Amino acid sequence: MDTHPLKLELKSSTAETPFIRSLVFGVEGGVVPQWQAGAHIRVSLPGGGDRPYSLMALPDLPDGALALGVLREEMSTGGSQFMHALKIGDVVKATAPANNFRLHEGAAPALLFAGGIGVTPILSMAAELQGRGNPYRLRYAGRAHGLLAFLPQLRAICPKGLSVHYDSDDSRLDIAAALGDAAADSHVYVCGPAGMIDAVKSAALAMGIAADRIHYELFKAGLPSSPDTAFEVELKSTGQVVTVAAGQTIIQALAQAGLDVLYDCQRGDCGVCQCGVIAGMPDHRDVILSDDEKASNKVMQICVSRAKSERLVLDL
Ligand code: FES
Repeated sequence: MDTHPLKLELKSSTAETPFIRSLVFGVEGGVVPQWQAGAHIRVSLPGGGDRPYSLMALPDLPDGALALGVLREEMSTGGSQFMHALKIGDVVKATAPANNFRLHEGAAPALLFAGGIGVTPILSMAAELQGRGNPYRLRYAGRAHGLLAFLPQLRAICPKGLSVHYDSDDSRLDIAAALGDAAADSHVYVCGPAGMIDAVKSAALAMGIAADRIHYELFKAGLPSSPDTAFEVELKSTGQVVTVAAGQTIIQALAQAGLDVLYDCQRGDCGVCQCGVIAGMPDHRDVILSDDEKASNKVMQICVSRAKSERLVLDL
């Protein structure tokens, strides 16, 4: 089965900020797959592997097109630099859209938080809520003026519901105040760096917002806490040893060895791939485990986390 069945031809690449480009693709065959706010596709990279990018409901998107917003990361393992270097007419392969960050059904209000490039799924959510007529507010935060992408598009999508916050001045986002201003039955959505997600989650829980009304998606699992190196994984059940190469995830290495493991988001935020650790020291890079769980080194998310020791023995 082709895991990346979509063929996407680059139609435009626009600098939205010095570091962020919007990329608009036409879909081969002209049939755009159905997707809803919060969905992403995974774009295949030339050196192997792929990267997830949220689909953007940009206001001026031509029919039959898909749009992505891509931050160029200096520390990236090549995905964002490959995407930024694409030329008009280049073709990439991608998965069908998947969605781990869905909007709630019904008319309840929403409070959206976006941090930096985490705005990409949030923009689509604002567009959908605006179209549905649901009440919502969007709090968009970034480090400094000039670094927040898609502001003109957001102003067109949500002329009344948008507030913009800069860390560099007194407009800095006050998460507790934003939550306090929201209607009591609001659903809360946050996409951005891990620190912002943690701050919104803990402030919302502290204010009594039920966990099932707090929805989040990590833009990226943080910078590696150590340079990626190869290590070994030993399966407790069979004693089989699999080498995880520097550019591979544990899941990819296990799949290459013909082993089947459960996974979903591949970003360290859904919990599906969680695995017991029998021996060795994980290098945790997820956002789903609590600090205590991480410190215990008894469980890990094998889609993003790696090893600080030369070998991990996993409960597989
Ligand atoms: S697949 Fe979602 S946390 Fe690993």
